[in-house]
Amino acid sequence: MADQISLLLVVFTAAVALLHLIYRWWNAQTGQRKTHTEKNQAVHLPPGSTGWPLIGETYSYYRSMSSNRPRQFIDDREKRYDSDIFVSHLFGSQAVVSADPQFNKYVLQNEGRLFQAQYPKALKALMGDCGLLSVHGNLQRKLHGIAVNLLSFERLKFDFMVEIQNLVHSTLDRWVDEKEIFLQNECHQMVLNLMAKQLLDLSPSKETNEICKLFVDYTNAMIAIPIKIPGSTYAKGLKEEHDVILKAKGGHKKLEWDDYKSMKFTQCVINETLRLGNFSLAMFRETKEDIKVKDILIPKGWVVCVFSSATHLDEKFHNEALTFNPWRWELDQDVSNNHLFSPFGGGARLCPGSHLARLELALFLHIFITRFRWEALDDEHPSYFPLPYLAKGFPMRLYNRE
Ligand code: HEM
Ligand SMILES: *[C@@H]1O[C@H](CO)[C@@H](O)[C@H](O)[C@H]1NC(C)=O
Ligand SMILES: *[C@@H]1O[C@H](CO)[C@@H](O)[C@H](O)[C@H]1NC(C)=O
Repeated sequence: MADQISLLLVVFTAAVALLHLIYRWWNAQTGQRKTHTEKNQAVHLPPGSTGWPLIGETYSYYRSMSSNRPRQFIDDREKRYDSDIFVSHLFGSQAVVSADPQFNKYVLQNEGRLFQAQYPKALKALMGDCGLLSVHGNLQRKLHGIAVNLLSFERLKFDFMVEIQNLVHSTLDRWVDEKEIFLQNECHQMVLNLMAKQLLDLSPSKETNEICKLFVDYTNAMIAIPIKIPGSTYAKGLKEEHDVILKAKGGHKKLEWDDYKSMKFTQCVINETLRLGNFSLAMFRETKEDIKVKDILIPKGWVVCVFSSATHLDEKFHNEALTFNPWRWELDQDVSNNHLFSPFGGGARLCPGSHLARLELALFLHIFITRFRWEALDDEHPSYFPLPYLAKGFPMRLYNRE
């Protein structure tokens, strides 16, 4: 009896042990299967399509960017894939295009570590070598630092403040009553003259020459953006603000930094222009290693197209996103939240010229508005490829005020 019991126990224990083994094995298997599927579900390429062989989706990208609806490319795909990050194939590379502000911020913040600025060859050929943007690593950090110093508030307040005004006045002196001009062309000239004066006038050294070249290459293209001022309510608001300043100064006297700072509504108009103007539609990066963020995998060597301007036009983030409404900047402090509004990029390559650009725009607006009335001579539409421009050059007729 005792033997039978012990036998039973042995058998039973053995069975339990076996069961236990089987269970462990099973568990390990399913565990593995689980992690396997988890891996597949957790980290994967975003949805999308690489389009046609070789040209991929480059043509649709091009068509959308050169139309007056540059967001189209994003909108179509967002709808199709139900995702604001998707796979594409642009300018000969596998690409991930992102209109997701969190992800875009992450990409820009990790410049030089996980990602690096890399503009597609085809794009570079079209927009010219983009100066500082094609420099990497320590040299980029160093030059970026120098650029930031060159364009520091101190220099803006004392040097640029005066020179921008001189230059704008002397340019406008050539525009007389009832003259017809192509504003775009004139603005390009003016901005280039300013760059030449500010940057090429520096006591020449090998280093400054190098920087100038890098700068001019890049900024030629970027800053020469005329802004359109249709005759609507906000144009009246602008006119009022600048007439008040003009009156307080008692005529066309040199504006001081405090006058600039007092242009509150102008700042709103400039922000709204930067938000809605589709300048710098997208920034291009290349992955330096396999990237895994949240559930997204992007292999090493892929292009990442950071489509930050899409966020600027997104109803999710801005009320009536497509309406030009400068007052939104007075009401809603949230609009300037830096991953929802990043017209000057971010991270280690944040545009060192952003404050200069704002200053130039404000001073130009002040002088232009207080000296002239104008009439546009043609219907204009902007185009954004490879860089923003107005197709007809914005012809207008000017009338002296008073
Ligand atoms: C409205 C005018 C401007 C806009 C919208 C603009 C926009 C941008 C953006 C988005 C970037 C980042 C590009 C990237 O990360 O791939 C950038 C970089 C840069 N910007 Fe601007 N910018 C403007 C005016 C200026 C001006 C006036 C200057 C100089 C005088 C300037 C000089 C630069 C330089 C040198 C870089 C490269 C920085 C680096 O790679 O370290 N920009 N800009
Ligand atoms: C910018 O792009 C949007 C959407 O593609 C378009 O509706 C808008 O008119 C563009 N802005 C300008 C100033 O053309
Ligand atoms: C304009 O945008 C910048 C962010 O780029 C923000 O710091 C500033 O406060 C905004 N200006 C106004 C008047 O809202």
